[in-house]
Amino acid sequence: MAERKAKHLEICLDDQQYAIEGGDSGFGNFRFIHRALPELSAQDIDTSLDFLGYRVSMPLFISSMTGGSDSGFLANRHLASIAQTARIPVGMGSIRILFRKPEVLAHFTLKKLAPDVPVVANLGAVQVRDMVHNQIFEMLKRLEVDGIAIHLNPAQELFQPEGDRDFHGILDSIRRFCHACPVPVIVKETGCGIGAQEAVRLLQSGVAYVNIAGSGGTNWVSVERYRAQGVLATAADQFRNWGNPTALVLAGLRSMEEQNRLPYTNLKAKTVHQTIAIQAADRSVQQSTDPKNKSEQSFRGILGGRILASGGIRTGMDFALSIALGAWMAGTALPFIRAVNSGGPEAGLAYAETMRTVLKNIMTLTSSHNLSVLRTRPLLINPSYKETIDQYIRAMGVA
Ligand SMILES: Cc1cc2nc3c(=O)[nH]c(=O)nc-3n(C[C@H](O)[C@H](O)[C@H](O)COP(=O)(O)O)c2cc1C
Repeated sequence: MAERKAKHLEICLDDQQYAIEGGDSGFGNFRFIHRALPELSAQDIDTSLDFLGYRVSMPLFISSMTGGSDSGFLANRHLASIAQTARIPVGMGSIRILFRKPEVLAHFTLKKLAPDVPVVANLGAVQVRDMVHNQIFEMLKRLEVDGIAIHLNPAQELFQPEGDRDFHGILDSIRRFCHACPVPVIVKETGCGIGAQEAVRLLQSGVAYVNIAGSGGTNWVSVERYRAQGVLATAADQFRNWGNPTALVLAGLRSMEEQNRLPYTNLKAKTVHQTIAIQAADRSVQQSTDPKNKSEQSFRGILGGRILASGGIRTGMDFALSIALGAWMAGTALPFIRAVNSGGPEAGLAYAETMRTVLKNIMTLTSSHNLSVLRTRPLLINPSYKETIDQYIRAMGVA
């Protein structure tokens, strides 16, 4: 398992030898509308928000990646220090290895390095289905994490020579897990996207946040393609564009919510962690009214502010668009690990600070003094993409 993780990291870092980014996240089809008279001061822009019990400085998180190998350990330490300095959440790679190799516990004890921001553990949905939940809960307490991200990765598993092939019973096990888990549960994909129906079902099952983790960025079938051989490798080549693009899923969810086609009213909190997530979103709306402009609109985010975006978010423009489309927060994985690999934690921090600067300037130029207002700003959409979004909505058919 450690060897596999190390090989994954090697493939992800070497962009000269391995082509692992595929498809189009779709953000290029959207545009903000510039305002020449924003009538606010850049100094008053507030990019902060509540997440997993912390006030974080902006809606950016470092998505789940490494641990379990020596190179992964070093990367985790750098990522945690970036998170602590930038005041943003940090995820870690799957903790599965800890149950077989407890001596690598130090690779995952990131809380000491990032005490003031949310630190999120990670585990595969298949492990959640097959393992004793109390064993996982004990490990989460030992790691002192603030949440756990459960990953769904059926496409990757199918192209992993040793991967799982049986995906029965996952949703039911997630529901049981959420009701007893000591920390909030996030469910994420790993780059193929979670659809509207699945997001709603997951939230109805007790999940605090759904990270749609769509396509257009790191493609895990392509990563596995470089480990696979023969037919599996040839077949994997045909999946370079597979998955639901991140911007398409977000825009689809947003339109469906506007057309009252998402059963938001049924999404009453079932766990204490869901209550906290909903309260955070409600608070952001209360705080958003500018005393100088009492009639200002605000929007907490899709599905009550419980949708996170990731997958192919590369630039500050992608980042700001994902929040404007209605995500509560947005995450990136590959850009952080590549920055850290080539330029150490300083390069990772510079990447985060560039994202912050772009977001802040877009908020100024769209006259959005905070994130709840940014989410109400109109966007221009490429007409042909609008048609694709409509097709996506028709295919989803959630009523
Ligand atoms: C080196 C690396 C390791 C990863 N390991 C994990 C993992 O252990 N668990 C997980 O849920 N996702 C993992 N991911 C997936 C990311 O969290 C993310 O969902 C995916 O890479 C898409 O985001 P991106 O396009 O910004 O890279 C990993 C990604 C990278 C680049």
